[in-house]
Amino acid sequence: MSTDGNERKKARKTPEELRSHRWYGVNDLRSFGHRSRTAQMGYSREEYAGKPVIAILNTWSEMNPCHTHFKQRVEEVKRGIWQAGGFPIELPVQTLSEPFQKPTTMLYRNFLAMEAEETLRSYPADGVVLMGGCDKTTPALLMGAISMDLPTIFLPAGPMLRGNWNGATLGSGSDTWKYWADLRAGKITEEDWQGVEGGIARSPGHCMTMGTASTMTSAAEALGFTLPGFASIPAPDSRHAQMAAKTGMRIVEMVWEDLKPSDILTAQSIDNAVTTCLALSGSTNAIVHMIALARRAGIELTLDRYDSLSRRTPVLANIRPTGAYLMEDFYYAGGLQAMLAELGDLIDRSQKTVNGRTLGENLEGAQIFNDDVIRRRSNPLMPDNGLAVLRGNIAPDGAVIKPGAAEPHLLVHTGRAVVFKDYNDMAARIDNEDLDIDESCVIVLQHAGPVGAPGMPEWGQLPIPKKLLQKGVRDMLRISDARMSGTSYGACVLHVAPESFVGGPFALVRDGDLIELDVPQRKLNVLVSDDELARRKNEWVAPEPRFSRGYGAMHQVHVLQADKGCDFDFLQRGGAGTTSSEPEIH
Ligand code: FES
Repeated sequence: MSTDGNERKKARKTPEELRSHRWYGVNDLRSFGHRSRTAQMGYSREEYAGKPVIAILNTWSEMNPCHTHFKQRVEEVKRGIWQAGGFPIELPVQTLSEPFQKPTTMLYRNFLAMEAEETLRSYPADGVVLMGGCDKTTPALLMGAISMDLPTIFLPAGPMLRGNWNGATLGSGSDTWKYWADLRAGKITEEDWQGVEGGIARSPGHCMTMGTASTMTSAAEALGFTLPGFASIPAPDSRHAQMAAKTGMRIVEMVWEDLKPSDILTAQSIDNAVTTCLALSGSTNAIVHMIALARRAGIELTLDRYDSLSRRTPVLANIRPTGAYLMEDFYYAGGLQAMLAELGDLIDRSQKTVNGRTLGENLEGAQIFNDDVIRRRSNPLMPDNGLAVLRGNIAPDGAVIKPGAAEPHLLVHTGRAVVFKDYNDMAARIDNEDLDIDESCVIVLQHAGPVGAPGMPEWGQLPIPKKLLQKGVRDMLRISDARMSGTSYGACVLHVAPESFVGGPFALVRDGDLIELDVPQRKLNVLVSDDELARRKNEWVAPEPRFSRGYGAMHQVHVLQADKGCDFDFLQRGGAGTTSSEPEIH
């Protein structure tokens, strides 16, 4: 991507220069077909001729509760597009519903990214509105749009309202894990549990804790892909609907200006988004997604860069699971704009955004209205190190931990490994009364990575054995090559790379080995000699592939490891078989 994008001045496009002109504007047999079929849908030429065609990629479905309101929002987007002189076309794409899709939406993130890119490529789109929010939809849509590089604006679903039960405020995910542990420990009743079920998700919108959804929609705004302030507005708020109409208006103008992702994305805007994720104490999933997004743009974002930004970035958002509040409170406290303004010199304000102004210009006048929810830099929730990248003999390509989510005494810890060879093994044995385990042990889950699980599910908050929960144990050191929900917490080391299923040294850990974690030193090692590890490696037998056909078979061959963002090798910029120009359209 261009690093001089902010300085470049472009001439406004003419109607003949629109991409859609090749479908609608020329006088040949093919365009006759396009126009006659558009007439079939009830449009006369006057309604679309010479206007930018705006594709609206909508991830609404009846299986995605986070996007329930998209059926209405898309009408508001269309209203804005019509008013600005564009021609809106709604194109439904895969929904990636976090609560329902098995084994994990992450398996299908790249599928949606491909679908988004190829839908835009194969239809007469001049510009695109991306409608997403539920976890993987945001990175997937952005990855596809970045690769296609048409003028692009993102419409975030917005967080749902706070949960409520018996006077208690409930947060998505975080309170599910909390009350589930209480139920298993016998501290609440089945009736209480059903009360939580009825009150934890009580409006449209994505999870309102600082999970992957809130993290990635905020990252999208920090990158410059949304109108200013949009990512924090709760889904049911009338200002969310107003912003949807404004998004529709703005994309039409972006087409005439030819303002594309390649004009917005730079190494500095990627740093801005990573800094934002860190100041939010955002989901660890954002690491994988941000690396993948950056690589689509030809920008190398490494785990080491992530770690160095973490060392200088304070956590300012006091939002669960790291903090106390929820996204609704964050919005009333000033929202992301206020937090970005407070970050001051840690943000590069010169970066361009979709409204044509710089990030700094957009932040003018942003204020904090509650400095317990959005902390001042002089009083952060954590001064730095919201995230740490670890390396060692079981994670030569890296692993990650969120120190703020762990009990402090576990951040420097050596313990005996209790190894589960896969998820089924763990599910079958974790609650056995005779399992040889205590709170000083290290729970290890293998075969939970991108290829082995498959799809690197959010299993990383490994369950604490029931007998230890009943003793009052609430945190233990846990290590896996899985991901973890951003709404989870605990001393969970995640994203171990390379993963165990493909023969990474994490596969060589056995019951009884001592594992040493030192977060300040960024170390993660199994205390076994190199000779012994080499002997175990010789004995290691590659497991049978998970899939013999279909999308899964393609995924297992082409997915990259976590430190490379889990994109497909051929989809990265410069990946095998890619070209810099579009094929000719006939
Ligand atoms: Fe959709 Fe959490 S389930 S964002």
